[in-house]
Amino acid sequence: MDKFLVSFIGLLMTVSGIIGTSLSDNLATLGELVDPEIEVDDTELTEIQSWTSQCGGEVLVNVDSFGAVGDGVSDDTQAFVSAWNKACSTPKSVFLVPIGRRYLVNATSFIGPLVIQMDGTIVAPDEPKNWDPKFQRIWLGFTILEGVIFQGSGVIDGSGSKWWAASCKRNKTNPCNGAPTALTIDSSSGVKVKGLTFRNSQQIHFTIARSDSVLVSEVLIIGPEDSPNTDGIHIVESTNVVIQKTKIGTGDDCISIIDSSTSIKMKKIYCGPGHGISIGRLGKNNATDFVSHVVLDTAFLKDTTNGVRIKTWQGGSGYARAIRFENVRMEDVENPIIIDQFYCDSPTTCKNQTAAVEISQIWYRNISGTTKSELAMKFACSDTVPCTKIVLSNINLVKTDGTAQTYCHSASGFSYGTVQPSADCLSSDQDLLIDQLKDANAEDEEPRIDTLFTLSSHPFMPTVMKGYDP
Ligand SMILES: *[C@@H]1O[C@H](CO)[C@@H](O)[C@H](O)[C@H]1NC(C)=O
Ligand SMILES: *[C@@H]1O[C@H](CO)[C@@H](O)[C@H](O)[C@H]1NC(C)=O
Ligand SMILES: *[C@@H]1O[C@H](CO)[C@@H](O)[C@H](O)[C@H]1NC(C)=O
Ligand SMILES: *[C@@H]1O[C@H](CO)[C@@H](O)[C@H](O)[C@H]1NC(C)=O
Ligand SMILES: *[C@@H]1O[C@H](CO)[C@@H](O)[C@H](O)[C@H]1NC(C)=O
Repeated sequence: MDKFLVSFIGLLMTVSGIIGTSLSDNLATLGELVDPEIEVDDTELTEIQSWTSQCGGEVLVNVDSFGAVGDGVSDDTQAFVSAWNKACSTPKSVFLVPIGRRYLVNATSFIGPLVIQMDGTIVAPDEPKNWDPKFQRIWLGFTILEGVIFQGSGVIDGSGSKWWAASCKRNKTNPCNGAPTALTIDSSSGVKVKGLTFRNSQQIHFTIARSDSVLVSEVLIIGPEDSPNTDGIHIVESTNVVIQKTKIGTGDDCISIIDSSTSIKMKKIYCGPGHGISIGRLGKNNATDFVSHVVLDTAFLKDTTNGVRIKTWQGGSGYARAIRFENVRMEDVENPIIIDQFYCDSPTTCKNQTAAVEISQIWYRNISGTTKSELAMKFACSDTVPCTKIVLSNINLVKTDGTAQTYCHSASGFSYGTVQPSADCLSSDQDLLIDQLKDANAEDEEPRIDTLFTLSSHPFMPTVMKGYDP
């Protein structure tokens, strides 16, 4: 496993090396992400090849050899579990889901470490009534993985339509029960997921929870616009996560980041339909959450209900800070830029409270496109804990009838460069304005905000090496 780990780390380093350098990729490239054929960096291909050759002589543990039928109808759960156990007890083994077949697999919990080559389709039984209640929120659950790669052209198909119909969001007479997440990676580190496709998950497609150093690359997620709670990638209490070259169209957030998650980099993301890229919900049930060092760089959002969003519940505490959204193009987005500290996703109305998650150091840079609603930018912050240090630069969000505007409530910060619609409603952060305003008219020169942004003074660099010193 050692060589594999080294090359995996090399790969992560390559990725983190890209971060901070300016991107030459333009929108045209992102537009092509509609096509699942996503371009791969040469560097990365080389790394993958070297990994493959290192693993060339390793033991393939094929689920077919353990009695998997692969007709999409026979229950292959036991074959998967047996193959997994065999692979786990065999050094240098690769767990193989072969191409060209469809495997019906019931809710299962796998415990690592392993390499997973997934080329076939894994499909969930479609009847919620028969689902094992022990696995209410899990379909394919992987825990305690270390240095594992999931790769291949395989499809994870949640067969979610009956679950959606049973959702209380579809029909208020239904009880509000949770439904399974298609793939969960929990309490793991050094995990890479590359090339897989997720379809029609029961609820969330892919959750990364309580994990460190996770790279997700070239993943495709497809769910219908009206499928309830089907977030694309859901990051929970995790650190050093990179999501890149990924295309997501679904019925909820394309990416959501919650609980105490830090050092999250999203790069080259296509989102739509869906609810946009969300930090939060934070602070639900008076929770204390700390989210910082999040970057979204280069994204294209189309026909989404939100663009880049931070959402918190009333009554929470902690903070969301040092967050940067940049180089984003939006097309027909309902709320392109939004901070909502009055978020309430509950059948009953939520009371306003004095406690709130503190939002500060949020930087929006080079964001353009079309808004569907008048409120191109909305900063709705807590009365008692205002948002501070909101910085806008080079924003151009238009509505066809020319009525785009900015809403501010309890929010301060400043803008420089072209900002359309204007954000004059942000009350100025006096202490921020010392030198900045002098530079505000100098188009080429950015205000010196490095003192405000840990992000810009230290280029984002996930500490992927943690625990992997070779
Ligand atoms: C899945 O597991 C449940 C509970 O053990 C069982 O009732 C159901 O028949 C299984 N479904 C399939 C397709 O194996
Ligand atoms: C909602 O569910 C109830 C009870 O199952 C059913 O009678 C009703 O027709 C459903 N409504 C819609 C809009 O599907
Ligand atoms: C959150 O705190 C408020 C104020 O202390 C309290 O009224 C409310 O019941 C709490 N909510 C929950 C879900 O604990
Ligand atoms: C602004 O963002 C767009 C969309 O991602 C990108 O094409 C363009 O190159 C960026 N401009 C600059 C100056 O970085
Ligand atoms: C909470 O406070 C906001 C801002 O002051 C206000 O717009 C909103 O109506 C209040 N909501 C409730 C439920 O009181």
